[in-house]
Amino acid sequence: MNITASVGPLDLRTPLVAAAGTVGSVVDVAPVAAFEAYGGAVAKSVSDEPWPGREPPRVAPIATGMLNAIGIQNPGIEAWMEDVAPHLGDVGVPVWASAVGTNPGAFASVARRFEDAGVAAVEVNLSCPNLDGHGIIALDPEASRRVIREVADAVELPVGAKLSPNAQDIVGIAEAVVEAGASFLTLTNTIWGAAIDLDTMTPVLSAGKGGYSGPGLKPISLRCVLDVHRAMPTVPIVGTGGVQTGRDVVEYLLAGASAVGIGTVHFAEPKAGRRILKETVRLARRMGAATLGELIGAAA
Ligand SMILES: Cc1cc2nc3c(=O)[nH]c(=O)nc-3n(C[C@H](O)[C@H](O)[C@H](O)COP(=O)(O)O)c2cc1C
Repeated sequence: MNITASVGPLDLRTPLVAAAGTVGSVVDVAPVAAFEAYGGAVAKSVSDEPWPGREPPRVAPIATGMLNAIGIQNPGIEAWMEDVAPHLGDVGVPVWASAVGTNPGAFASVARRFEDAGVAAVEVNLSCPNLDGHGIIALDPEASRRVIREVADAVELPVGAKLSPNAQDIVGIAEAVVEAGASFLTLTNTIWGAAIDLDTMTPVLSAGKGGYSGPGLKPISLRCVLDVHRAMPTVPIVGTGGVQTGRDVVEYLLAGASAVGIGTVHFAEPKAGRRILKETVRLARRMGAATLGELIGAAA
């Protein structure tokens, strides 16, 4: 079966993409990952200056997934260029970098350095729920448009916009970023969530709330994919949220995703991509498909 995929200008050997922040810098987890199963792997988001992240506890496993309020702890782009960039060619999978920032110029300067480093694409993280003093950019179409326009003007690389399931009107945000120059959309990042520690009777995360990911996110992100694909059927989407099995992947493809992100499942099963790819192919065959590509959007 032909299992290749394309996300706008990017050709992928499989439709699976390791989701940002769940495979570290990509370079550091390569020895324990199964990157051969992926068409791309997105590195943890990087900002222009180093960010220390939030106080612990900032990650909490919960019954149906995970809460995190890490606050995009990262070494900043210059340290990343020194420590991570030189090893990108050794990881066995095309690396997509992820830019984060608090204003359009900061996003664009990080993206320029990513281009120097030779990454395959830049995913613009407009949807981080954990930036102190800053709201989620992807809730505001004008703010999202400004960031994507500045990044798209700054680089030749394919630019993806990673959006938030918290958005009231995700189609409106998607239209704004595509018009501004995004060549693909990643739908979605985590959704606001919280949990309470019964012993201390306080929220488990120091920040009170954080981003929820895992199986319960799937119907929410899948709805975002379906809505956006119906409104803009030619725009490539990386459907992301709650994928654990090949069935989940097939559902995202049917809803209109061209590729599918694999995230939280990595923490329990670092080589999950290998199993999920096998399950996807087996299920697609059983459904009578000759290629994975022919499933895309069939349910939309
Ligand atoms: C611990 C953790 C760290 C994350 N870090 C990032 C990040 O740096 N940048 C980003 O765009 N998304 C980040 N995400 C969001 C994931 O890439 C993904 O969009 C989300 O977790 C939903 O997919 P999942 O349910 O398969 O995990 C992070 C998620 C988790 C759980």
